[in-house]
Amino acid sequence: MHTCLNGISKMIYTQFLLAATAGLLLLLLFKKWAQYRGIPPGPWGLPIVGYMPFLLKGDPIQMFQEFKKKYGKVFSISIGNFNCVVINDYKLIIEAYKEDVFLGRPAFEIQITRSHGQKRGILFAEGNVWAEQRRFAARTLRNFGIGNKNSMETLLQNEAQELGNFLAANVDKPMSLKSRFNASVLNSLWYICTGSRFDVEDPDFLFLITNIIDNFQKAESTGVVFFFPWVLKKDFLIKGFWKKYLETRDKTQGLIKASIAEHEKTYSPTENRDLIDALIEHRKKSNNPDSSFYGSEGEMNQLIVLLDLFVAGAETSSSILQWAMLYMIIWPEVQAKVQEEIDSVIGSSRIPSLEDKPNMIYTEAVLCEIHRFCTLVPFSVYHSTLADTKFAGYKIPKDTCIFANMRDAHHDKEFQKVPGATLSIQPNAKTFIVAPKPYEIIIQTRA
Ligand code: HEM
Repeated sequence: MHTCLNGISKMIYTQFLLAATAGLLLLLLFKKWAQYRGIPPGPWGLPIVGYMPFLLKGDPIQMFQEFKKKYGKVFSISIGNFNCVVINDYKLIIEAYKEDVFLGRPAFEIQITRSHGQKRGILFAEGNVWAEQRRFAARTLRNFGIGNKNSMETLLQNEAQELGNFLAANVDKPMSLKSRFNASVLNSLWYICTGSRFDVEDPDFLFLITNIIDNFQKAESTGVVFFFPWVLKKDFLIKGFWKKYLETRDKTQGLIKASIAEHEKTYSPTENRDLIDALIEHRKKSNNPDSSFYGSEGEMNQLIVLLDLFVAGAETSSSILQWAMLYMIIWPEVQAKVQEEIDSVIGSSRIPSLEDKPNMIYTEAVLCEIHRFCTLVPFSVYHSTLADTKFAGYKIPKDTCIFANMRDAHHDKEFQKVPGATLSIQPNAKTFIVAPKPYEIIIQTRA
């Protein structure tokens, strides 16, 4: 009798556990449903990984074009733990990014790791830290812009001159310009940040050239890096990536720290030599514990701001130069018109300066068109929502990862119909070159 009762109570207990688990699951499902009810429509993905496997197998740019046709200009897509919303329209992107609620950054581990566990600096920061650090860096860099021997303009002129000398010394030799562009760009950025240049043979410099840009390109080549960091930490997919990533982070930050220490030693409040001096001065003056310049947080933000400028500018600037070179080869008639304008406005006895800009309308239009046509960062740098919000008639929950589809905006046929909206350097181009394969060029002197 006793055993029988025991059996019955065990059964009741098991049934209760099953019912409670099912109830809990239902509750969780209901919570999820309530949270995501009213979000933009979009394709279904798989549990846990979401739509990632399909994105990896195909071309996300083309897939997103199809989704835009099917679901509209704003659609949802889930990737791993992240609920993402893709905005596929120029005006809507502008509209969204005017709102503070869209100015967050997703908490991607790869980015947090880079800034020691917090959203610091500018590029991957948000809120007060982002606003203060960005405002200060922009203002300071503008002040260093033009007009003295240490100005950014003079520096870039010198760097361009050196690049020109290199090309002149290598006429008729096939070469890849990638590493040469990387060197010029990294040295320019290093100068902007620290007020000094590297010797091009310096092993530290060679390490940075090879690794910063390579890491960036590998990270960009697959979104897995952002959404599934464990894949890389476990050394799947891109062998050795995580180790190299941390090594490059530490090495780059070590070099920046050494430069800050050197600046601290020689700092004088009467002499503002460069961005680091300006940051030191601002930190020293900061006595508000809520400020992102205050105390040890201020020191950490200083390090990450310098890193941000260095890293954000390096791959982008170097790649756009390669694209520009490639396009000038593919469209020689455009190259000839640019050359004509250079010859007539600047001539060959001096280097260009910013003062020439208003007189070089065609060249400037071509530069803008190169940016538009290749769209270096096709989905921009991901934003995220800082709170629940409404957009384009949909609900967008807090922490939604936002993709601004720049590729779509730049190639929107409707937008291109606006008179004078764009000067197409490729009127007859049938194909879009998706990524520049390594290519060699031969520089020849003009007759
Ligand atoms: C071809 C050149 C470049 C391209 C195509 C490019 C592209 C971009 C894009 C798409 C963003 C994201 C904007 C957003 O989140 O809404 C961005 C942000 C940023 N870029 Fe660039 N960039 C270039 C050059 C540079 C250079 C030379 C520097 C530094 C000297 C730089 C520093 C930054 C910084 C600090 C941010 C973060 C801004 C913020 O979060 O408010 N970029 N860039």
